[in-house]
Amino acid sequence: MTLKEIVERARKGAAVPIVERDVERALSALLASEDIWRVIDLSQVPVMALVRVLAALKDTGLLAWDGGRLVLTQRGREFAASLGIGPRLELKCPHCGGRGTFLGPVADIADKFKDIARNRPEAIQDYDQGYVTEETTLHRVAFMWSRGDLKGKELIVLGDDDLVSIAAALTRAPKRVVVLEIDRRLVDFIRDVARGEGLPIEVAQHDLREPLPPDIARGFDAFFCDPTESLRGFMVFAERGIAALKGPGAAGYLGLTHCEASYGKWREIQRFLLEAGAVIAELRDAFHDYVNWPYIDHMRSWPHLPVHRIPGREEIWYRSALIRIEVVDGPHIEERRYEGDIFSDEEAATT
Ligand SMILES: [Fe+2]
Repeated sequence: MTLKEIVERARKGAAVPIVERDVERALSALLASEDIWRVIDLSQVPVMALVRVLAALKDTGLLAWDGGRLVLTQRGREFAASLGIGPRLELKCPHCGGRGTFLGPVADIADKFKDIARNRPEAIQDYDQGYVTEETTLHRVAFMWSRGDLKGKELIVLGDDDLVSIAAALTRAPKRVVVLEIDRRLVDFIRDVARGEGLPIEVAQHDLREPLPPDIARGFDAFFCDPTESLRGFMVFAERGIAALKGPGAAGYLGLTHCEASYGKWREIQRFLLEAGAVIAELRDAFHDYVNWPYIDHMRSWPHLPVHRIPGREEIWYRSALIRIEVVDGPHIEERRYEGDIFSDEEAATT
């Protein structure tokens, strides 16, 4: 058995890219855990590719499903050893969870924010929602503040099921916070909180497939968004975000996973950002931890998973990188109107 044979087997009829390195990553994760959710998280292989790699390992006698566990067989262990593959080491900093940030002044609003978030609308599948932990949202705000993108600045949030606008405004640091959100429940929730707490948040219901309202374009120092991860969907969010920025020196924040995006997709995205006149100033992998959403057993990848265990609500497996971009030139954005489904592509796993 060779790595090449396994990749060829995994690729047979596959609509997603699968490379030899993905098999190495999967084996390394399988040496570290037998739990499907941990293996997805540790492998950093897109779920729709990983399920095919796992099936190929099983077909070749290297892996077994055993009572809901993913167990490497003796042959599987020998195969990994022959390739020099060891268990995946996570080595997260125990102090910051690997984010590299400290809450600092944001810690003062943490209790208040968590209190408010307790009454948030639940994530629904219609808009590919799935929110991050409250801790994550607070760290995002701290990160933006530390990069000079919050205090005295005008911030726009494109899609806000994570309630970034509320956490940001609670710090009283930004000059202005605007939210564009498609989900009526969230529009009402954020508006009610803003009114009750006296926060300077303006919320409008808006479908991002449509260009920005004219009074919004080119008006902001920073944008935040956590795009849906089809390539087309990601572009919709990134285009609107960048189009909302004033010009050079303005910054944008986006989330991007491994679960639903291969490095091929990462490359397309990076090329787009560079061509829009921005530079990727920072990328913090696994910065965002997501709370498990209630429709997990109805998500696209569910029927393809080798074992079916619904993870606990706070049993984190879906994470995303935090990307900070900064405009150097332009921005050069042609605002297009999009139609139809922006949530699906072959790598989409959680829509
Ligand atoms: Fe740390």
